[in-house]
Amino acid sequence: MIIRPFRPTDLPQILAIENASFPDPYEEELFSLLWRSYPSGFLVAQEDREIVAYALYGIQGDEGIIYSLAVRPNARHQGFGDRLLDHALQDLSRKVRRVRLQVALDNAPALQLYGKHGFTMKEILRRYYENGRDAYVMTKELSRPA
Ligand SMILES: CC(C)(COP(=O)(O)OP(=O)(O)OC[C@H]1O[C@@H](n2cnc3c(N)ncnc32)[C@H](O)[C@@H]1OP(=O)(O)O)[C@@H](O)C(=O)NCCC(=O)NCCS
Repeated sequence: MIIRPFRPTDLPQILAIENASFPDPYEEELFSLLWRSYPSGFLVAQEDREIVAYALYGIQGDEGIIYSLAVRPNARHQGFGDRLLDHALQDLSRKVRRVRLQVALDNAPALQLYGKHGFTMKEILRRYYENGRDAYVMTKELSRPA
């Protein structure tokens, strides 16, 4: 498995993972927009020739933002989520002191993953998602890399 920067030819596979992972998936244009605003914040995990997961993050003001993280359904529970999140946090820790994300209240795997990586819940956003689900805002204070 390698983790490498996103390339535009990856987009069809990324969209397939996205559509299989979220009830309200990001559209192609949003991926392109966020990638252009912070190109190093779009990482893919590749196994053989296939993309199995991606992480999309960026910087707004003095905060890092994790926009999205998803693993292909048949590649979950193999550590891809853990490793991509580690990469993103390592990069962000060189640039900002805090990182933030939103996650659906009923998304137990993601809540566990973010909790394991030191994120804590800050507030609830009622009816945050299009389908009416609530979200948690989670944050993590970053320390500079050694
Ligand atoms: C959340 C998600 C990214 C986890 O990816 P993954 O590669 O399967 O996770 P990993 O194998 O790296 O596991 C890392 C940690 O995540 C948590 N986790 C993963 N799957 C879990 C599950 N089904 N139930 C509870 N915790 C889970 C655990 O804390 C796990 O650590 P552990 O193995 O030491 O207990 C994946 O389930 C996914 O793509 N879900 C759909 C999209 C999504 O919800 N993304 C996050 C919201 S932005």
